[in-house]
Amino acid sequence: MAPKAAAFADYGSKRFMVFCLVFLVLLCAIASLNEFRFEALRRCAFNGGGEDITAPDPPLPPPSNEEEELRIFIGIMTLPDQYLRRSFLRLVYGTQQPVPGARIDVKFVFCNLTKEEQRVWVALEILRYDDVLILDCEENMNRGKTYTYFSSLPAMFSEPGRSEPPYHYVMKADDDIYFRFGNLAESLRPLPRTDLYYGFVIPCNSMDPFKHYMAGMGFAVSWDIVEWVRDSEIPRGHLVGPEDKVFGDWMRAGRRGRNRFNAKWAMYNFPEPPNLQCTHEFWPGTVAVHLLKNERRWIKTLQYFNVTERLKPSKLYHIE
Ligand SMILES: *[C@@H]1O[C@H](CO)[C@@H](O)[C@H](O)[C@H]1NC(C)=O
Ligand SMILES: *[C@@H]1O[C@H](CO)[C@@H](O)[C@H](O)[C@H]1NC(C)=O
Repeated sequence: MAPKAAAFADYGSKRFMVFCLVFLVLLCAIASLNEFRFEALRRCAFNGGGEDITAPDPPLPPPSNEEEELRIFIGIMTLPDQYLRRSFLRLVYGTQQPVPGARIDVKFVFCNLTKEEQRVWVALEILRYDDVLILDCEENMNRGKTYTYFSSLPAMFSEPGRSEPPYHYVMKADDDIYFRFGNLAESLRPLPRTDLYYGFVIPCNSMDPFKHYMAGMGFAVSWDIVEWVRDSEIPRGHLVGPEDKVFGDWMRAGRRGRNRFNAKWAMYNFPEPPNLQCTHEFWPGTVAVHLLKNERRWIKTLQYFNVTERLKPSKLYHIE
């Protein structure tokens, strides 16, 4: 019995060994297959089927944004005590959609603070919003605030060693005008970036930007003009008078602004009442609406431009 049993045992162990061998081969085959599949998967997952992730990252593209980005600075002339106006304008401008390929910086501009409470409130505003420029001047209407504004900007924004101007265009704007940033940027983008004087040419019926000057509602100049205002004797010697007319006088006397662009009727005064000067109907290509002297005018304007249409439905509010 024993030999038979031994033979059986022998047979059994042989069969077991063959089984093990086959099993091992199979295991190896599966493993290698899996490894292959895993590798393929890994490549797909990390590279979208592209090159191996172990390859070094391709060099980052040059900061083309920085090069091609249109940079516009808007200084809104206002007074330190105009807290409500500023908070309102922050709301209106802070909710405009960013413009692709453009950077538009808005700051409120005034002269030296004069009251104790201003030093607290304005300092808090700066902490919160950082959108205030305080010039070295005494508040004035027609005695050189415009000059101080433009001539102070290079020291405020120029960075040593940087050849690009900090802004391509600098604008001086009223606090009762509403700019549509997208249209403003698209209107400035194709224009020359030197020796440019852009705005709503005075008087209302004139379409010739080489006569007279750009209205104070909001005009723009290229950065080289800003530096020229700082450097030239011409503006320094002629400070008193209606500021925007005086600015036009400097440009004429200095033979500046060989590139001029009349933004009429993309810029205009609010359409009502009909006897208001320099008005135009609202239209989609509007760059700016001026003379928004009261809430009703602001509301009409903001409604026309559908500024609230991006509001998403929510359980938290209902605005019919
Ligand atoms: C404005 O304030 C600065 C800093 O206090 C002072 O040096 C300057 O003289 C003031 N300018 C005017 C015009 O009051
Ligand atoms: C505002 O929305 C209305 C209704 O959707 C549309 O007809 C109109 O063209 C929009 N206006 C502007 C300026 O986009």
